[in-house]
Amino acid sequence: MSTNFTKRDFAKAAGAAALGMTTGAPLADRAQTSAESQPKSVQGAAATFPEGFTWGVATSAFQVEGAVKEDGRGASIWDRYAHTPGKIRNGDNADVTVDHYHRYKDDVRLMQDLGVKAYRFSIAWPRIFPSGIGQPNAKGLDFYRRLIDALLEAGIEPFPTLYHWDLPQALQDKGGWQSRDTAKAFADYAGYMAGALSDRTKHFFTINEFFSFVDIGHRGAEVAVDGRKVRIEHAPGLKLSNAKLNQVRHNAVLAQGLAVQAIRANGVAGTKCGPADNLSTAVPAIETPENIKAAEIATREMNAGYLTVMLEGKYTDAYLTAAGNDAPKFTEDDLKIISSPVDFIGINVYRPAAYVVASERAGGFRPIPFNKSHPRMLSLWHLLGPEVMYWAPRQMIKEIYITENGCGASDEISANGIVDDSDRIMFLRNHLAHLHRATAEGLPVKGYFHWSLMDNFEWSDGFTNRFGLVHVDFKTQKRTPKLSAAYFREAIAKNAVV
Ligand code: FCB
Repeated sequence: MSTNFTKRDFAKAAGAAALGMTTGAPLADRAQTSAESQPKSVQGAAATFPEGFTWGVATSAFQVEGAVKEDGRGASIWDRYAHTPGKIRNGDNADVTVDHYHRYKDDVRLMQDLGVKAYRFSIAWPRIFPSGIGQPNAKGLDFYRRLIDALLEAGIEPFPTLYHWDLPQALQDKGGWQSRDTAKAFADYAGYMAGALSDRTKHFFTINEFFSFVDIGHRGAEVAVDGRKVRIEHAPGLKLSNAKLNQVRHNAVLAQGLAVQAIRANGVAGTKCGPADNLSTAVPAIETPENIKAAEIATREMNAGYLTVMLEGKYTDAYLTAAGNDAPKFTEDDLKIISSPVDFIGINVYRPAAYVVASERAGGFRPIPFNKSHPRMLSLWHLLGPEVMYWAPRQMIKEIYITENGCGASDEISANGIVDDSDRIMFLRNHLAHLHRATAEGLPVKGYFHWSLMDNFEWSDGFTNRFGLVHVDFKTQKRTPKLSAAYFREAIAKNAVV
């Protein structure tokens, strides 16, 4: 199926507004009398998700596996970065983290207890190709085969991600994502994985969150926190010029397109794939047709270097004009590769990138600054805006999976051994309610993966920000489901907002 992002799609979204999808009232009208015994969403609509909706949990290799030197695994840029003094809070590293590499069977049982239907995990490229290219490492592959077999036996569908930021260090030493060769190496690895695993897994996510590893890894980013500016950084921790950064972005989306082609060439018939990106979503501050249109324009432009070029096969005029002489160097053929049709789009949804209103100025939108007092979750970047869970799918109008959503919280085990994570339950309920609005309006959302199954290594925040439904004692590795796990299990059992 083609998922080319056309002007018609944006028009369709605008048309949806005309159908009354934006006023609030029709939602209440749609509450079904036949579903009276069903829980209701906060908007008053029947709160049941479509039949066959995929409920899952997500993790990534570097954050959960540990065993960084076992069975021939090569080093990744995150190993190097985490061991660089001053980079990770409290000097933490992920050498052991939550030991998923050895405890995956227990973790599959935890998933079974939750009642999840799907597990999104990532494959560590340096376990498969320890130096990024060359001879594959059979022991590395064997781990993922065992994990997938355990999942299948438990009735849980595997959704592997091929790149969740752990680039083999050997490739970084040769230029990393600044080199086009890395895009080619990624495609070779992706094709190899499709050949090796598509007999037992139907879905592959290619690359996780372009902005996070490209911009934050190669420039660093500033986020506004309670009225202050805070710098965030990821591996490899570079500070590139605009021209070089734009080229890294280009190489990353090129890798996406080449990987799609390699997966199609090597996977069994019916293998499906797409990216898992953190769509920067603009939310209309006040829901009017003008502001909705403004939010669509803003979303398209804010994602110009990533999802927009992947879906439209061109960089927007505004993107190229703003880049000027620093624009990426590319060919027409590159654009064709980058926009190789995908089967679905994964979007990680945590917060609105901006609230916008319509503006007469060129561009057509005005992002309004987040108020100093705007509430946030524990992570400094994590401003709260649950409406994003409706507007993100609404602006894609493609078959999508919510590949991540969740929040960090200051979870502690009480004297009687429980974790009452009130904020996570509030977060989850509100986001599911807005996701329900999307599915109730017929938007093609296929599933939802909660980040994360269990507490883990949260990048530069180390072990300070716990994101799990399951608490992990990082010293003893004891797993304890939090109250939010019971909430999530209930939502899955009822296939509804509860
Ligand atoms: C996302 C990352 C994921 C996790 C969550 C909290 O940006 O993809 O690995 O760290 O944030």
